[in-house]
Amino acid sequence: MADMETQVGIVGAGPAGLVLSHLLHLEGIDSVVLEQRSRDYVESRVRAGVLEQGSTDLLVSTGVGERLLAEGAVHEGVNLQFDGERHRIDFTELADGRTITVYGQQEVVKDLIEARLAAGGTVLFEVDDVEPHDVTGSRPTITFRHDGTDRELACAAIAGCDGFHGVCRGVIPEHVLREFEREYPFGWLGILAAVAPSTHELIYAFHERGFALHSLRSPEISRLYVQVDPSDDIANWPDERIWEELQLRLASPGWTLDEGPIMEKGITAMRSYVCEPMQHGNLFLAGDAAHIVPPTGAKGMNLAIADVIVLARALASWFTHSTRDELDRYSQTCLGRVWRVQDFSNTMTELMHVLPGGDPFATRVQRAKQRYVASSVAMRRTIAENYVGLPIG
Ligand code: APR
Ligand code: PHB
Repeated sequence: MADMETQVGIVGAGPAGLVLSHLLHLEGIDSVVLEQRSRDYVESRVRAGVLEQGSTDLLVSTGVGERLLAEGAVHEGVNLQFDGERHRIDFTELADGRTITVYGQQEVVKDLIEARLAAGGTVLFEVDDVEPHDVTGSRPTITFRHDGTDRELACAAIAGCDGFHGVCRGVIPEHVLREFEREYPFGWLGILAAVAPSTHELIYAFHERGFALHSLRSPEISRLYVQVDPSDDIANWPDERIWEELQLRLASPGWTLDEGPIMEKGITAMRSYVCEPMQHGNLFLAGDAAHIVPPTGAKGMNLAIADVIVLARALASWFTHSTRDELDRYSQTCLGRVWRVQDFSNTMTELMHVLPGGDPFATRVQRAKQRYVASSVAMRRTIAENYVGLPIG
C-alpha cells in the first residue's frame, strides 16, 4: 500500500526535475521529487554554465531569476578561433539581439531547490533503490528507501528526470525503445581556476594540438577545458601541464592568458545519445535521461529545460482539462528540438576538435568549414541562432 500520494512523481533533482516541479507548482499541480544524492552534493556538483535566452526568460518570468539576473553574466557573442585567429559570432547582429547568460548549473539548482522548499514543495534527498512500477496503468507507483524506511509513492504520472545513468529509461520495454548513439574519440579535461577570466566572452579554439575552451563563472573564477583522450587519467595532468596546453592552444596575437590556482579538475568523455520515444504509458523522460549532447554547443541544461516546459504544459492540460493530446504528443514535440540540437552540438564538436587518426578527407572538409565560418555571415548567423537557442514549442 502506498504511504504517500502526489500527482506527479519526479525522479531526479537536476535542472530537469527541479524546473518541472517548479512549473507544475505554478500550475497548481502537486509533485514529489526523489533524489539519490544529498542536497549538498547536487548543489556543489560543477557542470556546464550557459543558459540560452529562452532558459533565462523562463527562470526569470517564473520568479526564480533574481540571483541569476544579479550574478549571471550576459554575453552578446562568442569567439571561434582557428590557428590563433579569432572570429566573433555577434549575437546582437546575427541573432536579433538574443543573448546567452553564463551562470553555473549548480547555481540554477540551488535557486530552484530553495524556491521549491520555500513554497512548501517536497524534495527528498538521499533516497535509495528508486523503482517505478505499473507505468502503463492509471495508478503508477514509485518504491524507494528513505531514512532507513521502505516507502511507496502513488501518482498519476512519473517524470524520469534522473539523468543518463538513471533507472527510469530502463522501464521502457526493449522492443519499444530505440536508441541512437555516437561516441566521440575525445574527452574534455575541465578546470575551475581562481583567476580573473582573461576574456569577456567565451573562446572556442581549434589548434593542431587539440581543442581548448576558455569560459568563465564570475569576475574571479575561470572555467577552462582542453581536448584529451577520453581514457586519459587526470593523474597524468599536473596543473603546470594543463596551463601549458591551454597557453599553446588558446594563444592569439596580442592576447595573454592569466594563470591561477586550479580549484577543481576532471575528465569527461563525450557522446551523443537519443532514446525514442521519450514516453511510455504514464512515464515521461526529460533531460539527460532521454538524451545526451557533447558539451561543445553548451546545450545540455537548455535541452533539459526545454523538455520540461513542454511536459509541464502537457501535464497541466491533462490535469486541468482532462485532454491527453498534448501529453500523447510529448515525445514527438520534444524530439524535433532534440534532433536539431543534436545536429548543432555535433557540428560544433566536429568543427572544433582535432580528429584522432587524422582522416585526410575529413580533415580537409573540417578546414574548409572553418574557413567558411571566417568568411560567411550566413554561416555565422546559423551558429548564432542555434547558440542562443531556437524557440521552444
Ligand atoms: N534515483 C534518484 N535520483 C537519481 C537516480 C536514481 N536512481 N539516478 C540519478 N538520479 C539523480 C542524479 O543524482 C541527478 O541529481 O538525477 C539527477 C539528474 O540530474 P542531471 O544529471 O543534472 O540531469 P538533468 O536534470 O537532465 O539535467 C541535464 O545536466 O548532466 C548535465 O550537462 C547536463 O546540463 C545537462 C543537465
Ligand atoms: C562552461 O562554462 O562550463 C561551458 C561553456 C560552454 C560550453 C561548455 C561548457 O560549450
